[in-house]
Amino acid sequence: MDTPNDLSSVKGSTGSKADRHYRSLAKSYDYFYKELNETKFAALLKYFDVQPDHFVVDIGSGTGYLAEKAFEKFQLKNPIWCMEPCAEMQEVAKKRKGVLPIQKTADEFFKDFVDSDLRFDRAMCIGAAHHFGDPVKIYRSIESCLSPGGVLAVELMIDATNTPLFTRAANVNDAMLIGTKENTCAWLRLANFDVEVLEERMDYSVTKSKWYDMLRGRFYSSFKGAQ
Ligand SMILES: C[S@@+](CC[C@H](N)C(=O)[O-])C[C@H]1O[C@@H](n2cnc3c(N)ncnc32)[C@H](O)[C@@H]1O
Repeated sequence: MDTPNDLSSVKGSTGSKADRHYRSLAKSYDYFYKELNETKFAALLKYFDVQPDHFVVDIGSGTGYLAEKAFEKFQLKNPIWCMEPCAEMQEVAKKRKGVLPIQKTADEFFKDFVDSDLRFDRAMCIGAAHHFGDPVKIYRSIESCLSPGGVLAVELMIDATNTPLFTRAANVNDAMLIGTKENTCAWLRLANFDVEVLEERMDYSVTKSKWYDMLRGRFYSSFKGAQ
């Protein structure tokens, strides 16, 4: 479902591998991830209690799909702050309802935001935490930008799909996924969060022709990582 490479550390002349990945994927992202994101949103609703007057931030918000759904579902009075470094992703997000696009990385955003008087009641980071270069530092800055009683929801991929992977892709996948949950819990605790772990199966289905489209479009970046 996601980018199971250590993409954040690979820099090239036209940006990191992750930057290039998301730039090339931005226009097709909602199509490729539609079924999975619908499942994710249903899971989020089970655990993420949001009130209409809450200030909400979406960290690594991509095209803003989940933010728009949350804005509508929770009938928020204020737009969701959608922090996303990829300009192409933000181009899609800008057209959405209830979205305040901010083109920054988590690191850049929270470093500056700490001086603001505003505090977020809810923060969500769905499928983006693996891009954090210094997770403890970022979780600490997020924690200091939450209101008392504020909640951060971090969604991680802890197990790959049962799709067979090429060996190189499987190795990259394992390298990223093994210990992800344990490490993230430890990092969050170091950043003063009380941590609760909840597991959800993200079952979804797509037609065979769409699946081929997705693979051709490199939506599943293990394949990209295996090139
Ligand atoms: C797998 S996508 C998830 C997008 C969205 N949350 C969703 O679930 O549809 C990960 C997103 O994180 C963004 N990202 C990459 N590095 C980031 C960073 N350092 N801080 C915040 N977001 C980052 C990427 O550009 C990408 O849009």
